[in-house]
Order: sequence, then structure tokens, then C-alpha cells
Amino acid sequence: MSAVTVDVHVRPADRAAALRADVSEGLAASPKELPPKWFYDERGSRLFDEITRLDEYYPTRSERTILEREAGAIVAASGCDTLVELGSGTSEKTRLLLDAMSGAGRLARFVPFDVSEQTLRDAAAAVAAEYTGVSVHAIAGDFERHLGEIPTDGCRMVAFLGGTIGNLTPAQRKAFFAEIADLLEPGETFLLGTDLVKDVRRLKAAYDDAAGVTAEFNRNVLHVVNRELGADFDVDAFAHVARYDADEDWIEMLLEASRPMTVAIPALDLDVSFAAGERMRTEISAKFRRDGLTAELAATGLGPWGWWTDPAGDFALSLWRRG
Ligand code: AVJ
Repeated sequence: MSAVTVDVHVRPADRAAALRADVSEGLAASPKELPPKWFYDERGSRLFDEITRLDEYYPTRSERTILEREAGAIVAASGCDTLVELGSGTSEKTRLLLDAMSGAGRLARFVPFDVSEQTLRDAAAAVAAEYTGVSVHAIAGDFERHLGEIPTDGCRMVAFLGGTIGNLTPAQRKAFFAEIADLLEPGETFLLGTDLVKDVRRLKAAYDDAAGVTAEFNRNVLHVVNRELGADFDVDAFAHVARYDADEDWIEMLLEASRPMTVAIPALDLDVSFAAGERMRTEISAKFRRDGLTAELAATGLGPWGWWTDPAGDFALSLWRRG
């Protein structure tokens, strides 16, 4: 059993305050919106897991294929001995990277970073038990607020997998890339998972599956607001909508009110009205092109260091290096 330390920067009370702030801001906006991070309570995480096994939803499988084939090449290109994983979750795909690092005799440290303290503790303990000699330094934090808390030991490869970067707005993404560039020392690397622009029908199907799992996942944010803030959203009165915006290169998911409604949100001392047909955006999921991504990262001082896709070219893992 190797050493494990856990730093906690985000507690349940911070999360509760953040939800209240996001909901009161988002429902006061026009058009209304709710940020995608609130999908993932226990039920939402289970629904997302189900999504990853749907025929229509290719990104998770594609990314795993790349890791299975290319983890060795990625680790060799990076040359680093410390894996920092943002949004590590259960660290399942991470093991492919950890195996490659350990196989190359280059696994000194693992730094999982996740917003859920319990998930983080479980994953940290499991990795420490499986990989002898690795030191595990876990960080419970929000990647939009606590990147500065990442320890600086070793040569770090900071990984942000799963395509979660696509959920940030362009402004949030720009700030995020700038922070990553800023925290890296010269020679350290950033490994990024991105879904790629492709045939619109496949994109739409991936976010509007025949079995309706994505629709349930989308509506789940209303269950979360009902439970956490005492709201009385009639969840079934909202229809799931997924559309592709070809100008922005992103999928958006919306919830459409099927009739006029007034929703009470007691914890915010707020009543919110919806017109029939009114749409509220709950997620963007941006799709990327190699050139655009290279330009965005170059603007922060990170240079291209590797690019790997699955055989179909659906998803990319890209490596960037601080010069
Ligand atoms: C977990 C953020 C990668 O944007 O594709 C799946 C979330 N939303 N189906 C994505 C999601 C609808 C997913 N990410």
C-alpha cells in the first residue's frame, strides 16, 4: 500500500451555495439556462453511465479505443512521471495511462482531482493499492476554482479526458486553457480529450438516443433543483431537445416547456414563469477541429506535441507542451 494524502478544497456547503447562485442567475437570464454540472447527482451519474453504453453515443468508446492503442505512445511523448487527472471520477480510463507509465518505469505520482470527495477517496485508495510505490495526492476541488491547488512535484502530465472541455462556453474554455498553461512548468504537458466535428446526423443521434436515456438525463437537472432547492418543477412537462449549431460547432441540449408554468423555488424565495414552448439551455457540447484547437492552445503558450484519434477519426486525444 502506497502513501495517500487527500486535500479538500470543496465541501458540501460550497456546492449548495454554488447551486443556488447558478440557478438564481440562470433562471433570471434571458433565455434561461442551467449549467450542465448539475446533471450529476447519483441518478444523473447513473444515467450518464447508461448513455456511454448506448449504440448512438460513441465518444466514450472512441476515447477508450485511443487509450488502449496509444497510451504507450502518449506516455513516451509526454516523458513525465506524474499524472494529474482532472475530473478523475472512478479513474477507470486512467488505469490505461497509469499502466503505460508504470510499464515504462515512470510512475512516481498520481494526482486525482475531482469535485466529489467520496469518489476521489475511493479512487485514490484503489490506485494506491494497485500500483506499488506510487504516491497518491488527491485534491477535492472544482476545476474552475482550485487548479492552483495542484501540487508541483515531479514532471506533470495534466489530463482532462472525456470531452468535458466541450461543456465549457468559449469564454470559460479560454480561461481554463490559460490557467492550465499558467500552472505548467516548461516541459510539462497537457493531455486533452475532445470530440471532433463530424456528420450532423451522428452528432444529433448521440444526444437524442432512441431509448430516451439522454432525455431523462437532461430532465434530471430539474429533479436536482426540486430536491436541493425545494422547487416544484413538473419535470414531465419539459421536453428534451438536442440541436446542432453548425456556426458554433456545438450540440446544445435544451428543455422545452410544453405549457405555460410558474415554478416556485422556495430556497431562493423565487417564482419563475415559463411560456408554452419556451426553451432553457442545459448544456453545450462543443465539437472540435485540429486547427482551431491548436490556435486556441497556442494563444496560451502551449505547443502541439501529439495528436491521436480512433480509427474512425471520431474523437481525439491531443498532447500539448509548455515551451
Ligand atoms: C460527459 C460532458 C462528455 O458532452 O457528451 C452526454 C455529457 N451530455 N450526453 C458530453 C453528455 C449528453 C458528455 N460529457
